[in-house]
Amino acid sequence: MATFPQGFTWGTATASYQVEGAVNEDGRGISIWDTFTATPGKVRNGNTGEIACDHYHRWRDDIALMQRLNISAYRFSIAWSRILPTGRGDANQKGIDFYSRLVDGLLAAGITPFVTLYHWDLPQALEDEDGWLRRGIASDFTAYADTVSRALGDRVKHWITFNEPWVFTWLGYAKGEHAPGRQSNNPGSALAATHHAYLAHGMSVPVLRQNSPDAKVGIALNLVPTDPASPKSDDAEAAAHFDGYFNRWYLDPLFRGHYPADMIELYEPYMPEIRPGDMQQIQVPLDFLGINYYTREVVAKGTQNPILGTEKVVPDGDYTSMDSEIYPEGLYNTLKRVHSEYNPKAIYITENGASFDDELTEDGRVHDDQRAAYLKAHFEAAARALEEGVPLKGYFVWSMMDNFEWAFGYGIRFGLYYVDYTTQRRILKDSGHYLAGVAKTNQT
Ligand code: FCB
Repeated sequence: MATFPQGFTWGTATASYQVEGAVNEDGRGISIWDTFTATPGKVRNGNTGEIACDHYHRWRDDIALMQRLNISAYRFSIAWSRILPTGRGDANQKGIDFYSRLVDGLLAAGITPFVTLYHWDLPQALEDEDGWLRRGIASDFTAYADTVSRALGDRVKHWITFNEPWVFTWLGYAKGEHAPGRQSNNPGSALAATHHAYLAHGMSVPVLRQNSPDAKVGIALNLVPTDPASPKSDDAEAAAHFDGYFNRWYLDPLFRGHYPADMIELYEPYMPEIRPGDMQQIQVPLDFLGINYYTREVVAKGTQNPILGTEKVVPDGDYTSMDSEIYPEGLYNTLKRVHSEYNPKAIYITENGASFDDELTEDGRVHDDQRAAYLKAHFEAAARALEEGVPLKGYFVWSMMDNFEWAFGYGIRFGLYYVDYTTQRRILKDSGHYLAGVAKTNQT
């Protein structure tokens, strides 16, 4: 058992396209995920976010469900195309009103809103102008951040600029597995998209601070601790490269003001244009770092990834329904490493959770013991890091309820609430009961 300090933030997280639905309502513009899901073969079973969890209409009930979890914070994201339907220009008041009511509702329920500005649903109109590959998108994002924070900044005091920049740049612009589905197979596209997103981050942080006095501003990175498959130096080098690609490429600019030198060398033919002043802008001081942790990676020297010289190794162990290794030690290692090497002022775990093939049983419950055990083990790993001095302030479980799991559609369930998509009924899973107890007592 582990104990967390009083005042520790317990929360759950969601993202706009994964839960809202109502894609054609109240003036919302089309996003790249609408286009991507409408393209045959991109998402399992042709699933789309058209209805999702219908959270756009059910948000009041959903807040009541959150109260039942005893959580004190809720992380959600804003759909850029609800605020600015074509990405820039005049704000859509109805879109603002939706989030404004949600924020008021949360505050009235004693739940602190943590708002993510970009969780991957770019307005399609901006993608038509080359999306994150165009440097000027950084100014568009900053104008969007300005509009949102002017509207909500009096009440929202925790802002996250971007969710998981690795995912939407590499999967969206190089590998084609996520929207906008560009399969350039060219690392240069992902690195350019990353650089422009990071510029957008750096430019928008001061704007958020200005419009939202006393606000705490951060970013959420998906970090994947990487272990070498053996103690051999070849494997150690491979692991260092993978770590550079996945973790250091994103951490170093934020905390050190440069991309990692060993990786710049490997990426030499693919490097984006970096103008004078860019890196200073990107290194803007942050109030907290958000870490999304799901699993680790084990790599050996190999040719699977020719640039990195790595090969993925699948260790023995327990796995989730998405084939992620269950490895709580990786969360402890990540927290300790980030604290000692980058020293952010504060850390939140902005996502952690697991997918399993949940079943609604005849007793009307979902006995997801594996998820409850996963959470307990990860909470305890985090508690250990906290006791050893890591400034961990809060923990958000992904996700509040089952939802649209991107290219995997609705077949993958991560929720603390089970969602029956035919009726939109939500059923508290056993893991949700477990979290409710932890959030109430601060004990695992
Ligand atoms: C993360 C995403 C989140 C969700 C979880 C399972 O990478 O940020 O939207 O899909 O994975």
